[in-house]
Amino acid sequence: MKTFGPQARGARVRPVSATQQETSPMSAIQSVLVENRVFPPSEATVKAARISGMEAYQALCDEAERDFEGFWRRLAKENVVWSKEPTQVLDESNKPFYKWFADGQLNASANCLDKHMGTPVENKTAIIFEADGGEVTKITYKELLARVSQFANGLKAHGIQKGDRVLVYMPMTIEGIVAMQACARIGATHSVVFGGFSAKAVQERIQDGGAVAVITANYQMRGGKELPLKAIVDEALSMGGCESIKNVFVYERTKTACNMVAGRDKTFSQMLEGQSTDCPPEMVDAEHPLFVLYTSGSTGKPKGVQHSTGGYLLWAKLTMDWTFDLKPEDVFWCTADIGWVTGHSYIVYGPLAAGATEIVFEGVPTYPNAGRFWQMIERHKCSIFYTAPTAIRSLIKASEADEKVHPKSSDLSSLRILGSVGEPINPEAWMWYYKNVGGERCPIVDTFWQTETGGHMINPLPGATPLVPGSCTLPLPGILAAIVDEAGNEVPNGSGGILVFKKPWPSMIRTIWNDPDRFKKSYFPEELKGYYLAGDGAVRDAETGYFRITGRIDDVLNVSGHRMGTMEIESALVAKTDLVAEAAVVGRPDDTTGEAICAFVVLKRPLPQGDEAKQIAKELRDWVAKEIGPIAKPKDIRFGENLPKTRSGKIMRRLLRSLAKGEQITQDTSTLENPAILTQLDQTY
Ligand code: WTA
Repeated sequence: MKTFGPQARGARVRPVSATQQETSPMSAIQSVLVENRVFPPSEATVKAARISGMEAYQALCDEAERDFEGFWRRLAKENVVWSKEPTQVLDESNKPFYKWFADGQLNASANCLDKHMGTPVENKTAIIFEADGGEVTKITYKELLARVSQFANGLKAHGIQKGDRVLVYMPMTIEGIVAMQACARIGATHSVVFGGFSAKAVQERIQDGGAVAVITANYQMRGGKELPLKAIVDEALSMGGCESIKNVFVYERTKTACNMVAGRDKTFSQMLEGQSTDCPPEMVDAEHPLFVLYTSGSTGKPKGVQHSTGGYLLWAKLTMDWTFDLKPEDVFWCTADIGWVTGHSYIVYGPLAAGATEIVFEGVPTYPNAGRFWQMIERHKCSIFYTAPTAIRSLIKASEADEKVHPKSSDLSSLRILGSVGEPINPEAWMWYYKNVGGERCPIVDTFWQTETGGHMINPLPGATPLVPGSCTLPLPGILAAIVDEAGNEVPNGSGGILVFKKPWPSMIRTIWNDPDRFKKSYFPEELKGYYLAGDGAVRDAETGYFRITGRIDDVLNVSGHRMGTMEIESALVAKTDLVAEAAVVGRPDDTTGEAICAFVVLKRPLPQGDEAKQIAKELRDWVAKEIGPIAKPKDIRFGENLPKTRSGKIMRRLLRSLAKGEQITQDTSTLENPAILTQLDQTY
């Protein structure tokens, strides 16, 4: 890798190549600018940073290259508290089912809580919780340990033990974090389901994981509205196949009553009654599954991504230090939900393992107004702010429309580092974030990673890496990212290709729960020389070697940073058997959400027009919301008497993508059975 030191100021970064633009709808946004701005960190930032300057970054990369296992051994020793220190580092004997630190033992919750007892962190605020309505609750590390321990005892008293799976369906609350940490404390594997997912999604995840208990809340508060959670769990359990569930624990988030099934359901206070606040952590092997988290792939069925304890925790802690340059006095805020991997790594585990004070927010960025984030940064003196491009883009719009919610209406001087995650950040949004939120003084760490990677993979270091808007820059030390062609051969810088990781890393996915074959096929396809296939396209800058992610190369969409499979949505649509004969789903670029879902639908009835078409489109959206969740609702629905297909009967998805984008059709359409459908499919409802 070429060194890109401060001397490289003014380096020019090439635009995304023309061939690369084909691979993703996101590239339309990316190609708007020929990016040539470079923002090196200030001397003061470099001086104060943990990884100070590109030389320090390079030294770590060199250490990993010289002695890969020694590098990870050192970091595991320095960053994790082991009850039994590992003698093994990487076990490659059963590739690609890699093991890390396999003979080591630890407990993740002890690494986040117990570790700090008797240190200055003990009485430090661990969590500043701000509820949807604005109430603020603070909890110290010592108090959090007592809460987690008591909850762990409550779980044990109900027969839940090491190796069991527990489904967590909770709102953003301290209690949600306590529930996850308590599972980890007793060695139970948690499977968190985002509170926006449907009963069917909950049921599928219970069945696939074989969970024994559900931890949920009566309701959740979002934007001033009380939304049911327990009722959705009840519905899921009534769908059948969930007989493994013996207990449902219900946090009473609001005063409104909910249905409780005698013998099965208990409120938190009933479950915790008489439980001690002291619970020794259960030590587990490093490879013990800390959690399973479902994410979308290229088939209709979500994948249960299984993570380890030791390697995962090491990376969650270490990336807090490296990527965010965390200092004891920092106030860290990751705006993700605990239902996504970002919430797991950068709310529930990383910040606590690193001893940070973190903000946890229940609500939405636009309630009671679109200045909520900026007002909260001011109120809690947030110094590190980590959010998603989609939030930034929507807040840009809001603050253009209303001065009062513009970041400049709040005092943001406490900020020192900004972060971005979940999707490519377009240079315009990057510049706005840099200027208006960061006051041109805060480095932006654009972090590329995935549910499967467990933690950050490619991103700048705030006290080292010169920033280029829209580029996630360079891989972290020890991470061997490369861009290859379809045969697994590296392509020269400047030309695009497939993003891979050439060597395993400690926090990588271990397998897909219940489906090791799918794990192998999805991530380690034979033609790629044993490299990990990320599923994204990328291009490296010709001069600097900087990475620029161009978007997914498979059938996965990224809508507002939420991952969704086109096949999942198609399956949901065709499951409406009274109405839908056939459906195809593609993504198209969207200014705010990055990508938008566009569904092409063939009905089992004559082609609808006008109001009738609108009505059916609404019915289909509601149906998808019920099948998957509101985030999966197609933005555009188009009806046709059939779908454009090749002679062999394959749906012409490229043609559909062009139609979705509103592009001129340049593809050969001579093979179409019924060319009239192109006009039909042009109409959006
Ligand atoms: C995309 C979220 C560009 C990418 C942590 C990846 C990004 C998918 C970035 C994983 C980024 C995430 N720049 N693209 N900084 N971060 N992505 O599993 O397509 O929800 O494969 O994990 O999001 O989404 P997931």
